[in-house]
Amino acid sequence: MKPITFALAKGRLADRTADLLESCGVGCGDLRANSRRLIIDDEKNGCRFLLVKPADVPTYVEYGAADLGVAGKDTIMEANYPLYEMLDLGFGKCKLCVAGFPGVREKQVTSAVKRVATKYPNIARRYYRSLGETIEVIKLSGSVELGPLLNLSDEILDIVESGRTLKENGLVVLREVFEISARVVVNRVSLKTKGERINAIIEAMRAKVEGRS
Ligand code: PRP
Repeated sequence: MKPITFALAKGRLADRTADLLESCGVGCGDLRANSRRLIIDDEKNGCRFLLVKPADVPTYVEYGAADLGVAGKDTIMEANYPLYEMLDLGFGKCKLCVAGFPGVREKQVTSAVKRVATKYPNIARRYYRSLGETIEVIKLSGSVELGPLLNLSDEILDIVESGRTLKENGLVVLREVFEISARVVVNRVSLKTKGERINAIIEAMRAKVEGRS
């Protein structure tokens, strides 16, 4: 029987996801072994885990390299694939926000249109378009808060968890865009071909998340 393959995000969500899977009897203990292995098999339960960059989880699931994956809502919205989002795990909570300098200021940057630095160019374009605003997206991979500090951008669109990074860089939240938490996404074909086993795993996770088991 083919294994059920999970794409798991390395980093912030990894430990909580491993805890949850273990509490459901899916043994991914090796996930914590701090090794460089990228594929971990749990042969007893017929499961396989791929350890991938968070932003790549939706890609592995969309193309069927993984049957299901755990990723933040931000990552899922940015990838914008037609995946089934089957469960909100309720952890990894933070908010996607527009942030910048406090108060009314002179426009930071001398470009004709507002510049927004972000790791999320697709979400940014959709969000500002919904407001009827034209922007120029400055795509960064991290340390996005530097954008306004260096006059690279007028604003940033980024995740805020504790708010510490903004505070320590003299920035504030200007608008909250949406709330984020970890979600389980499933490949559409896998749901047909391996539906029974996938649903059993998801229902076990749901019961844990809802405190029913
Ligand atoms: C994220 C995000 C903010 C920070 C928010 O960055 O891009 O910079 O966390 O968290 P806080 O509100 O608790 O301070 P991350 O730590 O992933 O690093 P990066 O800047 O290298 O992407």
